[in-house]
Amino acid sequence: MPSVYIKTYGCQMNERDSEAVAAQLVAKGYTLAPSETVADVILLNTCSVRDLAEQKALRKMENLAAEIRRDRPEVVLGFMGCMAQSRGQELIDRLPDVDLVLGTQKFHRAADCLDEILAGRRDKIVDVAEEPGSEATIREHLLYGNAAKNGAVDGAGHGPPRQVSAYVSIMQGCNQYCTFCIVPYTRGAERSRNIPDIVAECRQLVAQSVKEITLLGQIVTSYGKRGLGETAVEGGASVLASRLVSSLALPNDTGAHGGTRPALQKSPFVQLLDAVHEIEGLERIRFTSPHPKGYGDDLIAAYARLPKLVESAHLPVQSGSNRVLKLMHRGYTRERYLGIVEKLRRARPGIGITTDIIVGFPGETEDDFEQTLALAREVQFDNAYIFKYSPRRDTPAADLPDQVPQKIREERNQRLLEVINEIGKRKYSALVGRRIEILVEGPSKKNPARMTGRTRCKKIVVFDGSERHRGHSLDVKITRAGSFTLYGDPVILA
Ligand code: 5AD
Repeated sequence: MPSVYIKTYGCQMNERDSEAVAAQLVAKGYTLAPSETVADVILLNTCSVRDLAEQKALRKMENLAAEIRRDRPEVVLGFMGCMAQSRGQELIDRLPDVDLVLGTQKFHRAADCLDEILAGRRDKIVDVAEEPGSEATIREHLLYGNAAKNGAVDGAGHGPPRQVSAYVSIMQGCNQYCTFCIVPYTRGAERSRNIPDIVAECRQLVAQSVKEITLLGQIVTSYGKRGLGETAVEGGASVLASRLVSSLALPNDTGAHGGTRPALQKSPFVQLLDAVHEIEGLERIRFTSPHPKGYGDDLIAAYARLPKLVESAHLPVQSGSNRVLKLMHRGYTRERYLGIVEKLRRARPGIGITTDIIVGFPGETEDDFEQTLALAREVQFDNAYIFKYSPRRDTPAADLPDQVPQKIREERNQRLLEVINEIGKRKYSALVGRRIEILVEGPSKKNPARMTGRTRCKKIVVFDGSERHRGHSLDVKITRAGSFTLYGDPVILA
C-alpha cells in the first residue's frame, strides 16, 4: 500500500484535520511515511490566515515539484485545507504538478480521491464544494504517534497508545466576520456537531487512555447557536437544540456567585462542557478558540463549577483600542474585555490567560497601539501570540484607508513582544520554588532524554522522568524558569 506524508501549517484545527486524514488513510491500509523524501503521497494542509502562511506552503509545493517529482514522477502531490478552499483550481493552474486540491469540507473524502488518482482513473481532482454534515466528519484519531509511523501499530490501533491529550472538533466555520479575517470564507458558516456525538467520541478517547481533551472550533463559544447537527435518533437539528437548552437550565445556580439567584440559562456550549465533564477517567478539559463576547455568566460560572475545566483561557483580544476593535468588528469593548478577565480571575484565582493581538491594523495610530500596550500590562497575560496585520483578499479591512506601513508594523510587533516577554518572564519566575501539578505528555521535543508535562494553566514543564510517567498527573517542584518554559523535579511523596 502507498505511504503518505502530511505537512500541516497553521492552527490546532488544522493539526486536528491532518490527524483525521492520516487516521482515515491508515484505516484504509496506507502507511505514514517518516519523511516526504520516501512518501508516495505528499499532502500539504494549508493555512490562509496570513499571507506568510500561504507563501510558505506555495514555496514548499514548488520545491516538492522541483525536487521530489523530478526523480519520482509517480508521487502524488496535494493541497488540503484553507488555502485549497480559497484558491481551488487556481492552485493547479499555477502549479501544474499538483494532483489534488481538497477543501475544508472534504477532508473525509481524501482516501477516495487518492484511490482515484493512484489507480489512474482520474488525473486531477479539485473538490472544494460545500457539504452539509461535514462538521461531523472530523472524528478519526491517531493515538499511536510514531508507533503508527513505524508500522508498529496496525490500522485497528493495536499497540501501546501514545497520546495523553487529544483534540476533538466540535464545530466548523465562523459567522463573526471580523474585518481582518479570512476564516468565514475558508471554513464557511458555523455548523455544530450534536452533543451525544461529541461525547461518544470523547468517551472513546478516554477509554483509549486519553486524559485531557481540547474541544476545538473556530469560535467555540458560538457552539450550537445556529442549531446542532443531526443525530440518527433525534433526526432534527433545531428540535434537539431547543430541547436541550430548555431542559438543562439550572433551577438555581450557586456556582461562583453563591446563594440563590434566578435560573441561569445555559448556552449550548456550557451544556456541552457539562456533558463532557461527566466522562469518568477524563481529567482535564480545555477549549479553543473562544470569542470574548461568548463569555457569558454561564461560562464564567462553569469555571467555578467544573473542576476538570482547567485554569486556562485563551482569550483573543486583538487590540486594546475601542476605536480599532470597532473597525475590526469584534463586538466588545476594552472595558468589557477587562471585565471578563476580572470575573474569570474571581471564579478561578491563578487562571492562566493568553491572547492573540494584531498590530498595525489599518488606521491603527500610535495612540491606539499604546492602548494595546497598556492593556497587555493591565491584564498581565501569561503569553500572547502577536500578529502583524496581513491584508487578506475579500476581507473588508484590506480595502480600508490608512494601511500601516510594514516598517511600523514590524516596529510595533517588536515593542509589544518586549512587553509580553517581560511580563512572561516575571510570571514564570514567580513560579520557581512552587509545587505544581502537571499532566505528563511525553519526551521533550528539544531533549528527548527528558519528559514534558503541562500545568493546568497550560505552561510547559520539563523534568527528568521516564516513559512510565506518561499519562500520569504528578506534582513537580519548579526549579528554574526559561522563556515560556518551566523546569522542575518530581515531588517524591514521603
Ligand atoms: N492579519 C494578521 N493576523 C490575523 N489573524 C487573523 N487574521 C489576521 C490577519 N489578516 C490573527 C488573529 C487571530 C489569529 C488566529 O490570527 O489574531 O486570532
